[in-house]
Amino acid sequence: MAEEFTVTPYEVSGEIDYQELITRFGTKEIDASMLERFSKFGEVHPMLRRQIIYSHRDMDWIMDEYEKGNKFVLYTGRGPSGPVHLGHLMPWAFTKYLQDLFDVKLYFQMTDDEKFMFYDQLTLEETKKWAYENALDVIAMGFKKGKTKIFLDTELIKTMYPIAVRAAKRITFSTVKAVFGFNNSYNIGSIFFTSVQAAPAFLESYYQGKNVPCLIPCGIDQDPHFRITRDIAEGIGYYKPALIHAKLMPSLSGSDKMSSSKEDTTIWTNDSPKAVKKKIGNAFTGGAVSVEEQRKSGGKPEICSVFQYNQYFFLPDDKKLEELYQKCKSGAILCGECKAALAERVIAFLTEHQERREKAKDQIEEFMLRD
Ligand code: TRP
Repeated sequence: MAEEFTVTPYEVSGEIDYQELITRFGTKEIDASMLERFSKFGEVHPMLRRQIIYSHRDMDWIMDEYEKGNKFVLYTGRGPSGPVHLGHLMPWAFTKYLQDLFDVKLYFQMTDDEKFMFYDQLTLEETKKWAYENALDVIAMGFKKGKTKIFLDTELIKTMYPIAVRAAKRITFSTVKAVFGFNNSYNIGSIFFTSVQAAPAFLESYYQGKNVPCLIPCGIDQDPHFRITRDIAEGIGYYKPALIHAKLMPSLSGSDKMSSSKEDTTIWTNDSPKAVKKKIGNAFTGGAVSVEEQRKSGGKPEICSVFQYNQYFFLPDDKKLEELYQKCKSGAILCGECKAALAERVIAFLTEHQERREKAKDQIEEFMLRD
């Protein structure tokens, strides 16, 4: 029997069966013909080839419209509850690929209101502070200036509120309870919140005064919000937003989503080289109990968090990844060597990221959108 698991925006637990999620959520798998369509626009991103970006809603419609000359906008976001970790950057890197491939605008939502309402220990001043800190990481990803607008909910609410209330009027308490697993003890802000996450999908249409298609790249855990958004969209006069979903980056402790609560198994964007080496050094691998045993019967890359890091983000070259896989399987490479190589790649990435993040401090105002 399949193991129990839960995936909602507010709870991810158990061993996730991603195929099963497609059925549960009613999304479409990204299949060979979809990859083929991507290849007409440019390079097919490694995350697409490897099925890390693996599910969608109406991506074919987005491409149809685009081919007819009707450009879409991108919309994604971040819940600013603390520093950013590598698991967050992964879908952002894919979002940047989409922005470059199609040369489109991006709206980036910082839900300072959401994190305030859902975390007892955070004040609104703190979530706002994190929103600005996290915006530097977003800018450091290299999104196009002039085509990328980052905003805090509390600072764009005058614009979004009329959209949010139109959405809210069509969403019942029982829907929210069923979709997010809320009960009567949740504060009323949490219950209203999904309408605030819905609103940016229609921002470009609002600004332009005509309907503009919207594509939302996000972790599959955010899909429940947008299922609701899609249900109410046409009723308030807009297109349903399309979605393209990422699997959740595993933590260094094994197969679960990289969680902000597990300090030692999470790599933050401001980690020092020393911290990175230590965390990767302690990572869960698919190695055997002894060196002799591993030389003889090989390792298990399928369950190895170090291999998964390479696969998700750090080894985009398919040939090199395949080589690593074979070397691990055959026992030609041991975990120590493999960990050291990954640590080096992560450190190189973070060193550059941290430099770009510093430079972003002078550019932040050019990216921010306010009422
Ligand atoms: N609620 C999301 C989180 O907690 C943040 C978010 C807001 C988001 N809008 C989004 C994520 C759109 C993806 C797409 O992380």
